[in-house]
Amino acid sequence: MPYTVSKLTDYSEEALDKAADNLLAALEQESQAVKSESDWKAFRDRWMARKNGVLTQVNELWLKAAPKDGKRDVGQRVNALKATVEENVQKSRPSVSATAMPRGVSAKAEVGVVKAYGERPIDITLPGNRRPLGAEHPIIKTMNEMVSVFRNLGYSIEEGPEIETDYYNFESLNFPPNHPARDTQDTLFIADQESKPLRDRLLLRTHTSPVQIRTMEKMKPPVRVVCPGKVHRNDAPDATHSPIFHQIEGLAVDTNITFCDLKGTLDHAMKAFFGSSVKTRFYPSFFPFTEPSADVQISCIFCGGKGYRDGGRCPQCKASGWIELLGCGMVDPNVYGFVDYDPKKFSGFAFGMGVERIAILKYGVDDIQLFFQGDVRFLEQFG
Ligand code: DAH
Repeated sequence: MPYTVSKLTDYSEEALDKAADNLLAALEQESQAVKSESDWKAFRDRWMARKNGVLTQVNELWLKAAPKDGKRDVGQRVNALKATVEENVQKSRPSVSATAMPRGVSAKAEVGVVKAYGERPIDITLPGNRRPLGAEHPIIKTMNEMVSVFRNLGYSIEEGPEIETDYYNFESLNFPPNHPARDTQDTLFIADQESKPLRDRLLLRTHTSPVQIRTMEKMKPPVRVVCPGKVHRNDAPDATHSPIFHQIEGLAVDTNITFCDLKGTLDHAMKAFFGSSVKTRFYPSFFPFTEPSADVQISCIFCGGKGYRDGGRCPQCKASGWIELLGCGMVDPNVYGFVDYDPKKFSGFAFGMGVERIAILKYGVDDIQLFFQGDVRFLEQFG
């Protein structure tokens, strides 16, 4: 008659001792009968199976049913039984010396290996499991590198929301309602905003420039910040466009900031990032929030600014020797009006650059989509 766990009616010390003795006697007896691996598996399952093994029954019939004031004692006893059963089951496993051991493994090592692997045949000559290291995404890497160039100049970092209001994305940056400059931004608007006043309507920010306004609203000059982040435009994806991309914005406002400071700062930043032989050139441009505005070009890093290489035209700079990289300018006095800065007292410059564009140049990537497709073969090259 095989051992079964029966309900306890009596929870006295003696009764508990007796129940435990019976259980251990049955365990001992059954473990003696284990001769083969399949005997052992049946034995292990009978005692330890989670679903209805003896230990589970002990838990159900003895511990859970124990009177409240006896629970602690019964719990300790059940734990001790559990440990004994587990140990006994482990010990009664038939020897696994049948497993082929590679020559040259010492007896001591053999015991360890056998213990660890049981009966599974092992081949210790196989290579170990590789755990590939992660790599920083090239866009994050580029962003961090550029941001740290400005951190070294004493700039701090500010961030802002990706869902912005019309006010922060446009109006306060001196894009009046219906101004044609808004059309250059291919904006993605959030639906069903028409019932709100224009300035409160939500959209996906098209640039990081709104962070300039948010920063000036909460800080008085001197201000020196860089604002990295994600931006959105209604552009169809192709090799050079993506509806989601990243920018880094910069803003410096103080007394006596001049266009010379802007030129010196950006020239330094481009040299620090691309190498000290890179030259910069400032080209007249227009942005509603800067006056004067400029586009910054760097001497072509592929042909060294010569416009030709390998006996032909340089395709990267279209033989011009220059590559356009970012927009900048002196903060338009109208902008100060929106943030309550005195334009007679303060002046400043701002700039904005596309992170993907910089990464494409720095790493020689020929398709912006690669940054967003998540192909490990591309990404692991930046490890
Ligand atoms: N926000 C501009 C854009 O996305 C880039 C830019 C140009 C930012 C000039 C600036 C700036 O801060 O001064 O097209």
